[in-house]
Amino acid sequence: MKILPAKKVSGTLDVPPDKSITHRAFILSALAETESTLYNLLRCLDTERTYDILKTLGTVFEGDWEKMKVVPRPFVEPIDPLFCGNSGTTTRLMSGVLASHEMFTILYGDPSLSRRPMRRVMEPLEMMGARFMARQNNFLPMAIKGNHLSGISYKTPVASAQVKSAILLAGLRASGRTIVIEPAKSRDHTERMLKNLGVPVEEEGTRVVLEPSSFKGFKMRIPGDISSAAFFIVLGAIHPNARITITEVGLNPTRTGLLEVMKLMGANVEWEITEENLEPIGVVRVETSPNMKGIIVPKDMIPLMIDELPLVALLGVFAKGETVVRGAEELRKKESDRIKVLVENFRRIGVEVEEFRDGFKVSGKQRIKGGVVDPEGDHRMAMLFSIAGLVSEEGIDVKNHECVAVSLPNFYELLERVMMV
Ligand code: S3P
Repeated sequence: MKILPAKKVSGTLDVPPDKSITHRAFILSALAETESTLYNLLRCLDTERTYDILKTLGTVFEGDWEKMKVVPRPFVEPIDPLFCGNSGTTTRLMSGVLASHEMFTILYGDPSLSRRPMRRVMEPLEMMGARFMARQNNFLPMAIKGNHLSGISYKTPVASAQVKSAILLAGLRASGRTIVIEPAKSRDHTERMLKNLGVPVEEEGTRVVLEPSSFKGFKMRIPGDISSAAFFIVLGAIHPNARITITEVGLNPTRTGLLEVMKLMGANVEWEITEENLEPIGVVRVETSPNMKGIIVPKDMIPLMIDELPLVALLGVFAKGETVVRGAEELRKKESDRIKVLVENFRRIGVEVEEFRDGFKVSGKQRIKGGVVDPEGDHRMAMLFSIAGLVSEEGIDVKNHECVAVSLPNFYELLERVMMV
């Protein structure tokens, strides 16, 4: 797919529903005691994996992704291995759920997911009493022998909402309380949802304490995904003739690091919370930002913008001075090695960037010439370089652009809606 430079970008977008919250809504409604109704679910390849696995385990779904009734049923042990596709959230959250059910299951995934570390969930869940076997004791395929678990107090070595959620979900059916302490706060959707369902969850800084509990079904509408909106927000700032408004987007403070960083850089971006419904929801407005300055991204903000960090490099290309991200080694463990893929592809389109073990440095006011890039099957890298194509001189050809369907199947339709060539 060749993305050519656009003369102007403008318009109002209602971005698709949140991926993290969709996974959690499916899982929690399957674990509830009574029926739930979920509205505005994100349908993409990743969330389809969670849906399919729960269905295989016996959960009944009725309706469509706009309005879905979820009828929980006691899980039945599946005969076949469960396919997690490209989805780290499915794998890690479901490992917590499966570890707390007395069944034997095997999880497997695509080649990218099979390279991502699972020891980080195996270790705490083993301490709680489940048994695991995995390739090289760290990678998929992974076999889980679930059990009646005991609560633990666990300090996670990395800030990870997937690991935290896996432990909390396992803790729901354990004996005794479960405590998770993170080195920095990661997204808190699981905690918010559990609290709202009446599960005793207490938070103090980066420490979460959960008492085991059952809960009733619920009704929930999924807000727009700030991580999908992020591509359009950054486009609005770096394009020389742009004005974009995003509506009904989730503005949970554990997800808005990119907006804060853009403000620090001097971008013309404003956001406003218009509704508080379990999650804060609101509007983001962004315009051409010719006076951005490079910054050193504060380390404590990294978990609050983990999926958006590569976009900071793109902002840095258009800012004055240097933009630096350090302390972000987790980027190498995502759907691709995002530091490597970013650096290699930036060089292919004529942008200079310095690679660090744990981040990158970009100097500002560079031109993006254009060329051919390979996002290595990583949806977020494909979307980032598509945006870059619109502000390039000669256009960018994005190889295997179809991988955007992992999180945002209608990405190119949304792009067409805001661009004028
Ligand atoms: C997610 C957590 C983050 C994020 C991922 C979604 C979640 O991963 O990168 O896209 O839904 O909990 P980590 O927990 O590995 O940081």
